[in-house]
Amino acid sequence: MLILGIESSCDETAAAVVSFEENGEKRILSNAVSSQTDIHSLYGGVVPEIAGRAHSEAICHIVTEALTDAGVSVRELEVIGVTVNPGLIGALLVGVSFAKALSYSAHKPLVAVDHIKGHTAACYFQYPELKPPFLSLVVSGGHTSIIDVRSYTEFVTLGRTRDDAAGEAFDKVGRVMGLKYPCGAEMDRLASAGDHEKYRLPSAAIADDSLDFSFSGLKTAALNTINSLTQKGEKISITDMAASFTGAFTSAVCNKLSTAFERTGRKKLVIAGGVSANSHLRSAAGKLCDGAGVELYMPPISLCGDNGAMIAAQAYHEYMAGHIADISQNAFAYDSF
Ligand code: KG4
Ligand code: ZN
Repeated sequence: MLILGIESSCDETAAAVVSFEENGEKRILSNAVSSQTDIHSLYGGVVPEIAGRAHSEAICHIVTEALTDAGVSVRELEVIGVTVNPGLIGALLVGVSFAKALSYSAHKPLVAVDHIKGHTAACYFQYPELKPPFLSLVVSGGHTSIIDVRSYTEFVTLGRTRDDAAGEAFDKVGRVMGLKYPCGAEMDRLASAGDHEKYRLPSAAIADDSLDFSFSGLKTAALNTINSLTQKGEKISITDMAASFTGAFTSAVCNKLSTAFERTGRKKLVIAGGVSANSHLRSAAGKLCDGAGVELYMPPISLCGDNGAMIAAQAYHEYMAGHIADISQNAFAYDSF
């Protein structure tokens, strides 16, 4: 079965063709991405209207590129999957409208995909043996959630950020340090050369028995430290700040994950989303899982950021569960679970 996955929730226009064999094997035949980060970096973050317009310009040729690279015609597709939520509404509408038009004109079923479920599904390519139930930590530019994945399609949020997402905080602190948007990968690199105890920053783990986070306090504390040192004429060490911020991020995440393991008894953890590329998070989570007897699954770095293959992977499971959308399908900005 061939599935076309389309993604346009934020600042990447992406499309992929994935082949699903009867023996359960999933093969990515193409994975085309047009990134808008160069445009948004001029403004230090994603500008929603510019994102919508850029998706509109790119969508046709990205879908064509995905089909051409895979050597597949629209007629050969069995399903068209598209991200319908959560994300920037003007951005989502471009992918959803395009997918609806293609589904209608080519008489192919349309499957609505939740972006967060898609990030989690990126793991199925590398680990065919991975099956629910498991816990999933989705850390991205818009999300930081600990989720109980009860089946391929049933997700229950156990904890989430009450304000900023982890990636958003990485980007804002990086911007004040003079880095180019998106700053996460550069913060990761700088942190490897820094002292994580140099600057005292608060925990991003909410201090109650919930599994929630607050990255706004951590971000503001980092920004205040940078501003007050700059006002005093003192030089800020960007490696030490990146390391201190990353240390506060990873310890908060590991703290809540450890509670989630105890509460649920789950023995498998997926970490997904753009921030799951973070090398410090990967190694801290590896140690945590080793100590707790939990199997850790993380997508390859190439599938951590937004892409169409992860949307096709989740579309497959939604389709197998009989979840088929119709021509009235809309896009929506908020979470569905
Ligand atoms: O999942 P994603 O591509 O888009 C959203 O759904 O938001 O995530 C993008 C986020 C950005 O905030 C980016 O700075 C962050 O992922 N990111 C990282 C790393 N690579 C990307 N954050 C920390 N460490 C990284 N290595
Ligand atoms: Zn994403």
